[in-house]
Amino acid sequence: MTGKCLVMRVSKFSSALIGCGMIGSRFSDDPRIKGIYSHAGAYDVSSNVTLGSLCDTDKVALSECARHWGIENTYSDVAELLEKEKPEIVSICTPDETHAAIFRRILDAESIRGVLIEKPIGLDVQEVRDLITMAAERGVVLAVNYSRRYSAGFDRARQLIKNGGIGEIQLVSGYYTKGVLHNGTHWFDLARYLVGAIDTVRAAGRQSGAVKDPTLDVQLKFASGAEGVLYGCSDDQFSIFEMDILGSKGRVRILDSGHKIEESIVEESKFYSGYNSLSIKDSWDGEINTAMVCAIENLVECVSHGGVPRCSGYDGLEALKIGVGAIKSWKTCVPVTLGD
Ligand SMILES: NC(=O)c1ccc[n+]([C@@H]2O[C@H](COP(=O)([O-])OP(=O)(O)OC[C@H]3O[C@@H](n4cnc5c(N)ncnc54)[C@H](O)[C@@H]3O)[C@@H](O)[C@H]2O)c1
Repeated sequence: MTGKCLVMRVSKFSSALIGCGMIGSRFSDDPRIKGIYSHAGAYDVSSNVTLGSLCDTDKVALSECARHWGIENTYSDVAELLEKEKPEIVSICTPDETHAAIFRRILDAESIRGVLIEKPIGLDVQEVRDLITMAAERGVVLAVNYSRRYSAGFDRARQLIKNGGIGEIQLVSGYYTKGVLHNGTHWFDLARYLVGAIDTVRAAGRQSGAVKDPTLDVQLKFASGAEGVLYGCSDDQFSIFEMDILGSKGRVRILDSGHKIEESIVEESKFYSGYNSLSIKDSWDGEINTAMVCAIENLVECVSHGGVPRCSGYDGLEALKIGVGAIKSWKTCVPVTLGD
């Protein structure tokens, strides 16, 4: 799949990384990680784009990243980087609450042609909607890093579901930790990608975590009529991200944060005569470790030749609307219809 993203270009695009923390760079220092998980690591191996400058307000993060990737042009201020380096492509890898303001600043720079923004795009639906409109008006391609959309293993699951491999979807359930905006939106985006549009969201009783981004239990109604239920869990002892898509003829489960995807089909029960049950038919790697490189190459492809990124600004907005809708529903105790 990565090969499909490659493009021919004689001179390379220049890129900049804003935020040199975990997803920006430091995941590349983790010996347990197999594959490429950081933006800097992905730029390092991607065709037709060169990472030329870095920005971080933390001097240690900035200098470690500069040393790791051999980059001399370092800044603590986004505006200064944009003015001096004039990058064409930028990755925004700063904390959630800073994304929108940094994105707005980047959109002011004439050199910009593409942005890969970490999730969520922002925290306010109207602000994000305005930014997406601004990007479109200025001809800037916006890609959002809901990473599973860029992974071949998830593409396979999507095709299976789309082709009726597990029948009509009845129920989509799952678990997540660390905030309905921070990680819940990852789950909503994946549910939209695999199953389809979500019409309404309703927060169920339980919540934990931060007040601004609580970890809520959420009920969903898909446009297809399928039901969804997502449980927010404590991350005190462990993290979890799972999805269970139950169809009329089978089931797809996303396990281990998507490192494993499992397909089950209907078979005669081994235990009782006259009963059918689900049994595991196949399982495969979600290939999350290919997502980062494919995200960068997909963005470069769209900047070079046009087209919509595999995870567009619109997709990022829709996921945010569901997360924000869940918080609204939690505060008002009524379901929220998502609308256009
Ligand atoms: N797509 C994914 O699967 C995935 C995985 C992890 C993190 N993320 C997202 O990436 C973002 C960063 O997460 P992280 O875990 O790397 O965080 P982090 O704290 O490790 O890194 C963030 C970095 O941004 C820097 N920073 C903060 N404000 C800044 C500013 N105004 N200008 C320049 N630098 C600034 C910080 O100093 C820090 O080095 C978050 O939005 C998170 O949701 C996405």
